[in-house]
Amino acid sequence: MSSLLPVLALRLSAAAGTAFGTAYAELDPELRAATKPEFGHFQTSLALRLAKSLGLPPRVIAERLVAAADLDDLCSLSIAGPGFVNLTVHPPALADAVNSLPGRLPARGQRVVVDYSQPNVAKQMHVGHLRSTVIGDALCNVLAYVGYEVVRQNHVGDWGTQFGMMVEQVLFEQLGVESLDIEGLQQLYQRGRKHFDTEPAFADRSRARVVLLQSGDAETLAIWAQMVEVSLVEFDRLYAVLGSPLTRADVVGESAYNDDLPVIVDELAAAGLLTESEGAQCAFLPGFVGRDGSPLPVIVRKSDGGFGYSATDLAAVRHRVSDLHADRIIYVVDHRQALHFQQIFALARTAGWLPETVPAEHVAFGTVLGPDGKPFKTRDGGTVRLAALLADAVARASALLAGRDDALSEPERLAIAEAVGIGAVKYADLASDRINDYVFDLDRMVAMAGNTGPYLQYAHARLTRLLEKAGEAPGRVTQLTEPAEQRLALLLTGFGDTVVQVASSLQPHKLCTYLYDVASALSAFYETCPVLTSAGEQRASRLGLCAATRTVLHDGLGLLGITAPDSM
Ligand code: ARG
Repeated sequence: MSSLLPVLALRLSAAAGTAFGTAYAELDPELRAATKPEFGHFQTSLALRLAKSLGLPPRVIAERLVAAADLDDLCSLSIAGPGFVNLTVHPPALADAVNSLPGRLPARGQRVVVDYSQPNVAKQMHVGHLRSTVIGDALCNVLAYVGYEVVRQNHVGDWGTQFGMMVEQVLFEQLGVESLDIEGLQQLYQRGRKHFDTEPAFADRSRARVVLLQSGDAETLAIWAQMVEVSLVEFDRLYAVLGSPLTRADVVGESAYNDDLPVIVDELAAAGLLTESEGAQCAFLPGFVGRDGSPLPVIVRKSDGGFGYSATDLAAVRHRVSDLHADRIIYVVDHRQALHFQQIFALARTAGWLPETVPAEHVAFGTVLGPDGKPFKTRDGGTVRLAALLADAVARASALLAGRDDALSEPERLAIAEAVGIGAVKYADLASDRINDYVFDLDRMVAMAGNTGPYLQYAHARLTRLLEKAGEAPGRVTQLTEPAEQRLALLLTGFGDTVVQVASSLQPHKLCTYLYDVASALSAFYETCPVLTSAGEQRASRLGLCAATRTVLHDGLGLLGITAPDSM
C-alpha cells in the first residue's frame, strides 16, 4: 500500500456512493487529522455536510456511511457528536504504510518550464534574487519528485538600453572589461550613468550604441559579451555557495530573444491586437484598467523603436510553448510584477501563443525586510550584497557549532557550518507563505529551536547518531502501540501527499510545516518511547520507525534544497 490518506478517502467516497447513489461517490470526505487522541486518527464531517441534500439527520447518515464502508482491513470507524465519523487506523496497517513509503513518482510525460533566479548583468545579486533562486530550486525539486520533466530557465537581465551606455563608457575609459569583477562593473555602470546625465553628446553616442548592439555590431557585442561573462562568473560562484543546481546551460537571458522581437510585433499587428499610442505600439486588453479607470497598455514597442521587458517576455512565452513544448510554465518573480505577468499571460493567450491547456503561473513572493521593517538596504541605502549575507550566515553557524563535536576535523566542521548557515537562510525564506514579507534576522534563522532549518537538521543528525549507536540494522516497523509512535508513523505516511500538494499549490512552506510537525512528533516519541534501551522486536521496530523518520527528514530537506549533515 502506498499513502494511507488517499486510500482511506477513496474508500469513504465509495461508501457514500453505495449508501446514497453513485453521484455521492464523487464527494471528497476531506479527512482531517483528529484533534484529540480519543477521536482516533482522522475525522470526516461528510455526514454533516450531506444532511441538507439528503434530508436526513447527520447521525443517521453517519451510521449508513459506516455500514456501507469497506475499511475493516485498514481502520475502525466510530460516530461521534452530531455525526462526525472518526477513523482509527489499525496499527498493522499503519506499520505497513510506514514500511512501504512511496518514493519519487514515475515520469508523467509532462514538461514544466520554471523561470527563476533571473539576476541582472553588471549588478550584484540581492535578496530578491535569493528568494527567487531558493523558492525556484525547491519547486523544481518538488516538481521533479512528482514526475515532471523540469526545464530551468534563468531569464538573466542581459539586454536593454543601459548596455549601450556601458559599452560607450568602456570605450571612453579604454577599459579592459575582463579585468573587472562584478563590483567593478557596477561602478562602471554608475560612472556611465553620470556621464550620460551630464554630457548630451555622450548620451547621443550611448543611444546610437544601443542600436549597434541590437543590430549585432561585432565590436559592441564583444564588449557586451565580456560584461555578461564577468557577471555569469559571479552568479555561478553564488549558485555554488547556495548549493543551487543552476548552470550556464540554464541561462537563457533576455538577449536570447532579440531576433524574435520584430516577429512578435508583426504577429500581434497581423492579429489586429496593436494600437499606436503616443508613438508606441501597444496592446490593450479587456479587463486591464488603471486606478482611474483608464485602459492599461502592454507596451510592445516603445516610441523610440526599441523593445522593452514586455516584448521579451512575450517572446519567451512563445518559445517555451512552441520550442520547449512546455505543458506548464512557472515564473518565480516578486509580487510587484503580478500585473505584468497577468498582462503577458492574457496577451499571449489572445495571440494564440499560450494555449488554454498550458497553465502559466506567477509564483509571487514578498519582500525581504531589514531589522527596521523596511525593505532590506545597507545603511547608506544601497542593496545588501547576497554574497556578504551568505558569508555572514556561515560565520554565524560556525560560531554556534564551535566546541560541539570535538571528533570533527576542521574541513568537516566547515562543511557542517556551510550546510547549517546556508540551510538556515534557505529554510527561513521558505518557511512562511511566500507571498508574505519577512525580516532578515540571522539570529532567529540559525536558532536550534523552533521552526528553523537547524532544528530540522539537528533532528536528522541526532537520528543518524542513534541509528549508528544501535549496533543492529533497523527492522521493519511491526509494533505501534504508543500514541506517540502512532502519531509519528501517521505523519510519515503523509510525506508523499504533502509533496504532491506542494507541486500543485506551489507553496513550499507547506512542506516546511510538515517537516516541522515530523520533527516535533519525533521529540514527543523520544519522550515516551525509549529506543536504544528497549529490547527485542520492540527495539527493532522502533529503530525502523527512526530510520523511516530519518529518510523523510533527509528527503524533505533535500527537496527544499537543504543539506542534512550526518552530525552537527
Ligand atoms: N531580471 C528581473 C529582475 O531582476 C526579473 C526577471 C523575471 N523573469 C521574467 N521572465 N520576466 O527584476
